[in-house]
Amino acid sequence: NKVVLAYSGGLDTSAIIPWLKENYDCEVVAFAADVGQGDEELHGLKEKALASGASECYIVDLKEEFVSEYIFPTITTGAIYEGEYLLGTSMARPVIAKAQVAIARKVGADALCHGCTGKGNDQVRFESTFAALAPELTVIAPWREWDMVSREDLLAYLAERNIPTTASATKIYSRDANAWHISHEGGELEDPWQEPTKQVWTLTVDPEDAPNTPERVMLTFNEGKLTHVDGEALSPYQALVKLNEKAAAHGVGRIDIVENRLVGMKSRGCYETPGGTVLVKAYKALETMVLDKAALKHREQLGLEFSHVMYDGRWFTALNDALLAGAASFAKKVTGDIVVKLYKGQATVTQRRSPNSLYSEDFATFGADDVYDQKHAEGFIRLFSLSSRIEALKKQSL
Ligand code: ARG
Ligand code: SIN
Repeated sequence: NKVVLAYSGGLDTSAIIPWLKENYDCEVVAFAADVGQGDEELHGLKEKALASGASECYIVDLKEEFVSEYIFPTITTGAIYEGEYLLGTSMARPVIAKAQVAIARKVGADALCHGCTGKGNDQVRFESTFAALAPELTVIAPWREWDMVSREDLLAYLAERNIPTTASATKIYSRDANAWHISHEGGELEDPWQEPTKQVWTLTVDPEDAPNTPERVMLTFNEGKLTHVDGEALSPYQALVKLNEKAAAHGVGRIDIVENRLVGMKSRGCYETPGGTVLVKAYKALETMVLDKAALKHREQLGLEFSHVMYDGRWFTALNDALLAGAASFAKKVTGDIVVKLYKGQATVTQRRSPNSLYSEDFATFGADDVYDQKHAEGFIRLFSLSSRIEALKKQSL
């Protein structure tokens, strides 16, 4: 028997390796995805996996794929979960789980394993991807099976087996990081009346300590894809890295929310999405230049629907494909430049231009122009409000 484990090097997945071997009598292949979470998490990962008893460890670089195939398409839908969350963890799950399936096929494994809690969204996202791409493989979710409940339990479990770990008994927050964001849950954040302490935030400068001078950044889009930052041509991932640096320095992209998990309970989380916040704002600002009222309204509805598809782990579904195809059609028009001003936690769009712009100073002006005859508005309003007039007249004649 062979199991491919989604491995992070943290305490949980380190304990899962010996647990799998003992309880499933199997060989464990560790798999880690590089989705831009940073070198700290990836450093020495292979050695760690082998020291914990894995037979092999694959680290797969998914950074560009993650940004170009998952993040950029999601941006074209306008999706923001429950009005605030930019879906950083949600977007990473399908790309990671898909690569995990590929490794399972490569090594001829018969099962897939993840270290997600049984109370969260991530288990659903991983396993929905497994179901869609590898229905024949068995899924093992140790957190739903074993009876360990605390970090002390996991540390004792490893100590009994003489498996080295640098993990400590106290780890306050549950965090998830990638190129797009970092999430923070748990600890004092579980009390929604408790303001996050300074130690929660790890990616962005505190807006209160941010520079007193604003900085401007120009984003160039071509058919919905970010291609340049400040005039420099960059790959999708590199463009995001550059936006992250600039925005983080100005404290942009922090949110503190209570959200509805798919599995029913509410959870409180803090998120830092510096570059993503700038990118989403810029994209939406450019859309307002190129989409007319009816198109923009439909795109807004599509974004609401897609936020749930993405959050709920339904990437590999027909609905996902249809919504993305619709969004891609609108995105063809999204070409142009947007300037965003970064200042003390705020990202404000200050300039916009597009070859596809429907905005016309000539037509919008309150002065004279030659496409709009103010007399025409009278007939338009008369018919637009006709049903109200008929109803009111009817009431009066009763
Ligand atoms: N609540 C967020 C979401 O469901 C973040 C989850 C973070 N996951 C984690 N394993 N720490 O997308
Ligand atoms: C966690 O914070 O560990 C779980 C979050 C989730 O899966 O929803």
